[in-house]
Formats: sequence, structure tokens, C-alpha cells
Amino acid sequence: MNVEPRHEIDPDHFRRVMGRFATGVTVVTATADGKTRAMTANAFMSGSLDPPQCVVSVAKRAHMHGYLTAARRFSVSILAAGQEEIATHFAGRPVPGFELAFVDVDGTPAMPGACAVITAIKTADHDCGDHTIFIGHIATMQADERPPLLYHAGRFAALVPLAEATPALPEFW
Ligand SMILES: Cc1cc2nc3c(=O)[nH]c(=O)nc-3n(C[C@H](O)[C@H](O)[C@H](O)COP(=O)(O)O)c2cc1C
Repeated sequence: MNVEPRHEIDPDHFRRVMGRFATGVTVVTATADGKTRAMTANAFMSGSLDPPQCVVSVAKRAHMHGYLTAARRFSVSILAAGQEEIATHFAGRPVPGFELAFVDVDGTPAMPGACAVITAIKTADHDCGDHTIFIGHIATMQADERPPLLYHAGRFAALVPLAEATPALPEFW
């Protein structure tokens, strides 16, 4: 059997390559010991339709990690275009003078003004190297039609729909 030699992956190269994957931007929120914390995250995805589950990956060194480990519930707010300040603030670069009141969604704090909010009951966590993958059973979901904030190659970006209408893709789940 041919075994590929294991090459060291340079962290900057890792970030540059992973950064080619364009994503939306979410803020994950959880409460532990009566304190609420929020963190900007793009490592979010739909997990399962039946049962409805979502997935988020959080660095073990993030303060948020302890909150998610302790919390029973969490929310994921998908940021709308124009919410860069919120994304920056909760990505470890506090914006001076920035004040924000969480909104309550089904008993879970979430971001005001997001274009979608998902609340979930934590059901599992899985080790993933220097991150932990948290899985939540979705309790509530809401969304509006506003365009999302995007992230690509280390920068925030905006969605530019194609001029020509593309055929609808078949559902894949
Ligand atoms: C667009 C964007 C996406 C991010 N996605 C994640 C992510 O998915 N998981 C993660 O652990 N950190 C992610 N981060 C980094 C955290 O937001 C950042 O490290 C934050 O300071 C951690 O917060 P805390 O230590 O206060 O909990 C992202 C940052 C940005 C700007």
C-alpha cells in the first residue's frame, strides 16, 4: 500500500487556502453561569434535516469554548449585509463605544438585526484538534429575505447575484 508522506502544513498557507472558501458570517451566543458571551464564527453549517441539527466549530483557546461547553443551549445569528461592525466586535476586536442589547429568541440571547436566527439545544461535542465541533438540535429557526454579510480571503464581502438567472439546483438532502 502506498502511503503519502506526511508533510507539515504551514499555518499561514493553511489559512490562505481555507480562506478561499467563501462563507456567510454568524455570531454564536451562549449563556453560562448567568453570563452571556458571543463570538463571530464562519465554521457553521447545517448538520441534519431529520432530526434538525446544526454544527459549529470553536477554537479551544476561545473564551466562547468554555461557555459552549457549559451551556445547554446556544444561538447562531446569520449576519445581514451591513453588520460588519458586529462581526468585528465579536471577533476579538472590540469596537470602542459599541453597545448592543441581545434579543431574546425562545429564551436564548441572539443578535439584533440578523437576517436569520437559529436556536439549538446542545446535543454533542466532538474533538477536532485545536477546535471542538458542537452539535445542536434545532429548536427554532427564523429568517428574512435581506442579503447576508459574506467573508472571503480575510475580508468581509457582499453578495453579487449573477446577472443571468441560473436554473434552480435540485435539493441534495
Ligand atoms: C469572519 C470570522 C470568522 C470566524 N470564525 C470562527 C470560527 O468559526 N470558530 C472560531 O473558533 N473562531 C472564529 N473566528 C475567530 C473568533 O471570532 C475570535 O478568535 C474571537 O476573538 C474569539 O472570541 P473569544 O475568545 O472572546 O470567545 C472568526 C473570526 C472572524 C473575523
